Amino acid sequence: MSQNQEFENLANETRSFPPTPAFTNAAIAKPELYESARADRLGFWADQANQLHWHKSFTKVLDWSNPPFAKWFEDGELNISYNCLDRHVEAGFGKRVALFFEGEPGDTKVFTYRDLLNEVKKAANLLLKLGVSPGDRVAIYMPMIPEAIIAMQAVARVGAVHSVIFGGFSADSLASRIQDAEAKIVITADGGFRKGKASALKPAVDEALANQNCPSVEHVLVVQRTKGEVAWNPVTDLWWHEEMQVVSNQHEALGFGAEHPLFILYTSGTTGKPKGIMHTTGGYLTQASYTHKNVFDLQPAQDIYWCTADVGWITGHTYVAYGPLANGSTQVIYEGTPDTPDWGRWWDIIQKYHVSIFYTAPTAIRSFMKLGRKVVQHYDLSSIRVLGSVGEPINPEAWMWYREVIGSNLAPIVDTWWQTETGAIMISPLPGITHTKPGSAQVAVPGIELAILDEAGAPVGPGHGGYLTISEPWPAMLRGIWKDPERFQETYWDRFPGSYFAGDGAKFDLDGDLWLLGRVDDVMNVSGHRLSTAEIESALVSHPFVAEAAVVGAKDETTGQAIVAFVILRSSQLNDLGSEADTSKILRDHVAKEIGAIARPRTIIVVSELPKTRSGKIMRRLLRDVAEDRPVGDITTLTDTSVMDTITGKINAGHSE
Ligand code: PRX
Repeated sequence: MSQNQEFENLANETRSFPPTPAFTNAAIAKPELYESARADRLGFWADQANQLHWHKSFTKVLDWSNPPFAKWFEDGELNISYNCLDRHVEAGFGKRVALFFEGEPGDTKVFTYRDLLNEVKKAANLLLKLGVSPGDRVAIYMPMIPEAIIAMQAVARVGAVHSVIFGGFSADSLASRIQDAEAKIVITADGGFRKGKASALKPAVDEALANQNCPSVEHVLVVQRTKGEVAWNPVTDLWWHEEMQVVSNQHEALGFGAEHPLFILYTSGTTGKPKGIMHTTGGYLTQASYTHKNVFDLQPAQDIYWCTADVGWITGHTYVAYGPLANGSTQVIYEGTPDTPDWGRWWDIIQKYHVSIFYTAPTAIRSFMKLGRKVVQHYDLSSIRVLGSVGEPINPEAWMWYREVIGSNLAPIVDTWWQTETGAIMISPLPGITHTKPGSAQVAVPGIELAILDEAGAPVGPGHGGYLTISEPWPAMLRGIWKDPERFQETYWDRFPGSYFAGDGAKFDLDGDLWLLGRVDDVMNVSGHRLSTAEIESALVSHPFVAEAAVVGAKDETTGQAIVAFVILRSSQLNDLGSEADTSKILRDHVAKEIGAIARPRTIIVVSELPKTRSGKIMRRLLRDVAEDRPVGDITTLTDTSVMDTITGKINAGHSE
């Protein structure tokens, strides 16, 4: 099937769920939001920005004189941590709970806004004591515990730049990110609790830093969480709790320019090297808080909000560490996995804390769907009033299950489309306004201008599909790729000049609602995590057994996509190999070690050749056909058309792992 045919094939969804009048009447977002954004887009964004506290007001909204390098609110100054903490305490909300922390073993901690501010001020002083200056990079490699948020807030408070690395990444991935950003400090923990046991983190940091591998790092701050044994380097390592005891809790948040860098977050692209996506301060916080408030209908004095994302991903940045705090909301964070001690854990947390806004990923919803309603129906979920979905397309069946079983057929579902690069939500229904439709992300949020373009760059209308693009700059947009402005230009701006190309296919249905169709490049989406085929291929070929590898994302009922790798083994090594099953295990473990467990291929298929075009390009489309178990498509451009017969013959003979 060609890309264009794929764009056109979509079920015509006719179900539509209007908001209840009661919800609409009380909703934060009013239809006028769309009108005012349409009438004066920049004025609209200025109004949103002015809801924050500015140390110095801005006079200009957007400078787009040097595209694709945008500057928003450039002459304004603000402090992101002041906006998330101090201003709420000063407004009299110091006693409001900011964080309910639920550890996996069942331990809990509660932080009011005053408590959190106190901790962040101390952590800011600690960073200053260690010589951190504005613009310095600090790597954060932590479990999902309050200190992760405290660390991010403290780094931002002193004008330094954080680079959070997801705790599931390997020592190698951690080292390459530390090196690329030249981080001065690493903040980590001895470990965290996952699946009922302590899972160590510090050894990965030790391995990353061994042999002067990361010469920029001066100190490693270690939070004590599991109390497990840790190796200790007396020159660099410091216990967080000891240092926090001896620093002052007085710290004045200074204003930084709106375009002052806030964080780098590495994400996978189409090459083997992850991209350091760069975000700045004023525009990012503006869109983070605006979308958090309007998309989730946040009523800060009443709602208990819970987003299940880890701070290692963009969702955990925008909708855990910044947006909710900027809006003065009360949120839950949970350290562990949804199945510990059993699959009731999430629903138990919702019941216990009376969670009213719940934001998670389709892959989790599908896992629960498989287990059946019984697991959930045991709990009282009546507190839920808004449900969110993010990270991958949500299929209509999962959407309906989410609505019926979790949302009691009442709570509106907001399917939110956005990316690490967009910084904040771009496409989503607004509860109280939009009639929601199962499986569709529906409409751009007010203030965002998008278009779906065909191959030639012409906009398509209702009933047609193409490439999703953003037509106008937006406040939370990435400001570049760390140390690589050319790659920034090439990846996002060259395909359709003047527009940002998201890398996703999309379609408008006949009502004009937007449907996301998945990536159109070599980026995979496994359980809502973004992975690059090239990165996994290079991990595979770094193993001495492997001569060549091609990786594809195959459709998977639970994880959205699953990683399937086709490998050619080196003949010189064949004698050392055991059965194909052994080889497969060795290679799967090797990828997990190189990149992290999230990148472990589901399936390894050993082949003798790979399908290539005359110019030597691997035809992944054909491999995807094999991996998804359907007839192989057009092979006329292959150098050797018999290759596919050999591969499919082998699969049919049941040799695959
Ligand atoms: O393909 C889209 C998919 O996730 C990609 C972005 O991944 P990442 O930068 O890791 O950010 C994920 C969390 C914001 C997109 O290019 N994606 C994200 N949200 C949706 C989605 N696909 C369909 N529907 C969504 N709601």
